[in-house]
Amino acid sequence: MKNTVTTFKQAKEQGEKLTMLTAYDYTTAKLIDEAGIHSILVGDSLGMVCLGYENTLSVTMEDMLHHTKAVTRGAKNALVIADMPFMSYQTGCYDAVVNAGRMLKEGGAHAVKLEGGKEVCPQIEAIVRASVPVCAHIGLTPQSVHALGGFKVQGKGGEAAQKLLEEAKAVEQAGAFAVVLECVPEKLAALITEKISIPTIGIGAGAGCDGQVLVYQDMLAMYGDMSPKFVKVFANVGEEMKKGFAAYKREVQEGTFPSGEHTFKMDESILDKLY
Ligand code: KIV
Repeated sequence: MKNTVTTFKQAKEQGEKLTMLTAYDYTTAKLIDEAGIHSILVGDSLGMVCLGYENTLSVTMEDMLHHTKAVTRGAKNALVIADMPFMSYQTGCYDAVVNAGRMLKEGGAHAVKLEGGKEVCPQIEAIVRASVPVCAHIGLTPQSVHALGGFKVQGKGGEAAQKLLEEAKAVEQAGAFAVVLECVPEKLAALITEKISIPTIGIGAGAGCDGQVLVYQDMLAMYGDMSPKFVKVFANVGEEMKKGFAAYKREVQEGTFPSGEHTFKMDESILDKLY
């Protein structure tokens, strides 16, 4: 069944948990889609897990469009959400609408995600007015890594917790259809989930959220540059890949690969006539 923003709304109303994973290419998107995950996020985490940058700040619109196109070709039923990269919306409503529109028009995405609370509500309103569904993202917002002083849990103190609750209400009011809560204490995330009518999608925000999202390379132990506390490894694919690569090297060097079953044959008498 095709997942849409209505699926998100109904899941919240019916108390069904939503699932979201990141993907950045056709093959992975197809596998995630076939596993029945509701939504695929083409995250700007692309910059770190695929392109090898230290953070997400260098990711461009062209990077995001290139990978979003690949993901939308692979996803048949999942709702595809494209992340708006750093400085593609912070500069104003006009840029935000134009760039969000490109994600749908050129990338084939169904929705966009952008980071921030009250300060980006005018952009959320403008994008939603242009008929592009918006998923908000508050708490730890990686595009603000320098302003936040690092990748840290957000909303721990009284003032910070109150601010986060207000940010959640503000993005809901601005028209977001869902909000990602990243690195937020579980009790606060559960309270926010109770107080707003749109689904909360947690990453490092506990089980009280309406849904969960993870970066797929994290949950498959493929990316070791950072290992956040909130990540659970569901399959040790990284280790299996390394074993596979090493076995390939060994067999090539031993001469056992390729063997007869992986080799094309021909009438050898033809070879005798070659000069
Ligand atoms: O870019 C990303 O992958 C994200 C998730 C961590 C929510 O924003």
